[in-house]
Amino acid sequence: MISMVSILFITSNEHKVEEANRILSQFGIQLEMFPQKKIEIQSKSLLKIAKYAAHMAAKRLKSPVLVEDSGLFIRALKGFPGPFSSYIHETIGCEGVLKLLSGIEDRYAVFKCAVAFCSPSLGLNTFQGRSIGRISLNMRGQAGFGFDPIFVPHGEELTFAEMLPEQKDRFSHRGAALRAFGSWLSSKSMAKP
Ligand code: IMP
Repeated sequence: MISMVSILFITSNEHKVEEANRILSQFGIQLEMFPQKKIEIQSKSLLKIAKYAAHMAAKRLKSPVLVEDSGLFIRALKGFPGPFSSYIHETIGCEGVLKLLSGIEDRYAVFKCAVAFCSPSLGLNTFQGRSIGRISLNMRGQAGFGFDPIFVPHGEELTFAEMLPEQKDRFSHRGAALRAFGSWLSSKSMAKP
């Protein structure tokens, strides 16, 4: 069981921890929340942001760490809010994004997630996931966090916020990235980070 060695998840977002532990439980991996804001470099690349933060955290804490950076990229807004998703959610929120898109027919959007894992024995490794979908016409649902009430994954009718947690995991960018991480870590012979 990989959870014998604890992996620190550097985040102050409890929703992310809950989702990550639910997704990783199938691999026998459990993350321990390390409630600190990750060190964030100025970059448009989620991967670069996650890599740098994981590298710095592992160096400081001398322990296996996992960092996740995610964002919502809306085609009609040329990829906005992208790496600024957290700030945009805190300021204009879902309502503000819906206003920016009012009267715009193209609702295509992608959620992206970059995960960086750094440990003394396995070094720095990265994993990515995406969820293609559309921005709904109005807010729907109570579950989840962030932009969940306005994102509908491709081929579905419900927003992430209307789905059961496991249903969101199946379609989500975080689900894809963390499943890639989970199977990679499980494949390591010692299975010990
Ligand atoms: P960060 O990764 O902490 O920089 O934050 C990314 C931001 O993107 C979050 O604060 C949310 O607003 C949004 N976001 C990322 N993933 C999700 C998700 O699964 N559902 C809804 N919003 C998300």
